[in-house]
Amino acid sequence: MDLQRTTSISSFKQETFLIEECVRKSYTQNSCEKVFCQPWQRCVKGSCRCKLPYQCPKNGTIVCTADRRAFRTYCQLKSYECQRKMSKFMHRGNCDRQETFRVVLDPENATSEGTVKVELAHSQRAFICGEEWGMQEANVACRELNFPEGADHIETIDTDNVSQPLECIKATCRGIETSLAECAISRLNQSNAKLAKVVCHTPPKECSFREFHCVNRKCIPLDKTCDGINDCGDLSDEVCCKACRSGSYHCKSDVCIPNKYLCNNERDCLTGEDESHQLCNGRLQDNEKGTEQAEESMDEERRNIKKSLPQLYCGVANRTVTRRKRILGGNTAEKDEFPWQIAIRGERERVSCGGVYIGGCWVLTAAHCVRASRTHVYKIFTGMLNSITLNEGIETFDLKRVIIHEKYNSKTYQNDIALLEMKPKDLGRCSPPNSVPVCIPWSQHMFKSGQQCKVSGWGFDEAFTRQYALKWGYIYLMENCSAIYRHRYFEGMECAGTHDGSVDSCKGDSGGPLVCFDSDNVGYLWGIVSWGENCGEKGHPGVYTKVANYFDWIGYHTGMSLITRYNL
Ligand code: ARG
Repeated sequence: MDLQRTTSISSFKQETFLIEECVRKSYTQNSCEKVFCQPWQRCVKGSCRCKLPYQCPKNGTIVCTADRRAFRTYCQLKSYECQRKMSKFMHRGNCDRQETFRVVLDPENATSEGTVKVELAHSQRAFICGEEWGMQEANVACRELNFPEGADHIETIDTDNVSQPLECIKATCRGIETSLAECAISRLNQSNAKLAKVVCHTPPKECSFREFHCVNRKCIPLDKTCDGINDCGDLSDEVCCKACRSGSYHCKSDVCIPNKYLCNNERDCLTGEDESHQLCNGRLQDNEKGTEQAEESMDEERRNIKKSLPQLYCGVANRTVTRRKRILGGNTAEKDEFPWQIAIRGERERVSCGGVYIGGCWVLTAAHCVRASRTHVYKIFTGMLNSITLNEGIETFDLKRVIIHEKYNSKTYQNDIALLEMKPKDLGRCSPPNSVPVCIPWSQHMFKSGQQCKVSGWGFDEAFTRQYALKWGYIYLMENCSAIYRHRYFEGMECAGTHDGSVDSCKGDSGGPLVCFDSDNVGYLWGIVSWGENCGEKGHPGVYTKVANYFDWIGYHTGMSLITRYNL
């Protein structure tokens, strides 16, 4: 680890907002385990990579670059910029319009600092007003001036000696733009205007102990972390926060977003809590109405592009019944409540394990439930509620292939995960009726300890007798699994249960789903039932295979497009 980052970590003791072990992982705006990628990017192995222009949606407005070249859509231009790491955008619309919008510093011989001016058409110039001038805007201006890390700091300058009102330009940026022209721009006439000044980042610099070391090697004051403002410019000051300062909102993934992003119809938190009904009901959807500016900002164009990207249909149960908590200590499932639940029948005529439908012809289960040499013996049941009375709508499938995780260890239960490929029915398709695939979590940070989730299966109940009706129960994710199970706990496992052990999975539930829900009630397969010390014992929760750890492994076998929910 480099020395500069270590010094700033040691000063966290007086800083209560940052999570130290998270900071060490150097997350930025390009870490899709923490935030969504831009619509001109896609997530590959945890980081946002630039899309190619042809991977952009076709519809959108034409845009013109600084060198007067037209791009068919904003997304195409941004993917071009993204690849070449340069700023190009000039204005929306084609390049016939003799319109210019370019940042310059004043005085003109200034290299990295000065007051900020904008060059408009016919070599006209206007100042940027300092009133609303913030680090997000300054970062964008510096980026446009070819300082890729953005600004070191900002100042404002009084102009009280000006007699007549000064026309100046106000810019409001999201902080991810590469040129100021992409921000929301308005003209102001101010009598005692303040002017914006900026010092752009020029390396090298060492951070003091009261500063946070951004991943892009800039230094910012520690009290500017976790406030929803992207001071670093790469967002690294906002993505490892156990709490957020006033004016900002704490996502479950420990990211701080500005309050103005709440209920604006764009999902900023991975699991959507910034747009939840609970939070937004009765609130005015402020970004919906009322903002009738002359021209849409490019931020709106970005949101429209984002909306036009296809999304995977998964995790939606047609019925959700919530009854009092009473598998083991659970409730009986009803039709359409667990449309991803699969039953696996082994050699003998009974349900030997659970499984989970994830789309296409694919089912996930525990590795300890199956053996590759027995592929032809297994039968897969979809739509099953009762394994004796055999309800209507059950479909059976044979298996084509069993893929056991190559690092599965049958003694320690490490990597207890397997993929089953069903034999397609007529027309070569699987799509079982009465089934809906569950969503696969792509990030470890989507749910954390304390989260209430549902486990389901045909395993033993509290009297240790075999169940014929599908049962389910609420259990909670736990963080102290390594303290409970010591040397038996490994990376890729997760504990879940209740504090008194009253609800638990048990023998026969293995391979079945532990599903957690986002704020739209969309279900994610967080765990696969794996093992536990007895069943329903206080202090000995069930142990689950942590599916987020295996996202890339699953996608490698099934194809990423089967399991990538957003921004494919
Ligand atoms: N290994 C068991 C099975 O094959 C699952 C046990 C889960 N145990 C627990 N206490 N949660 O069915």
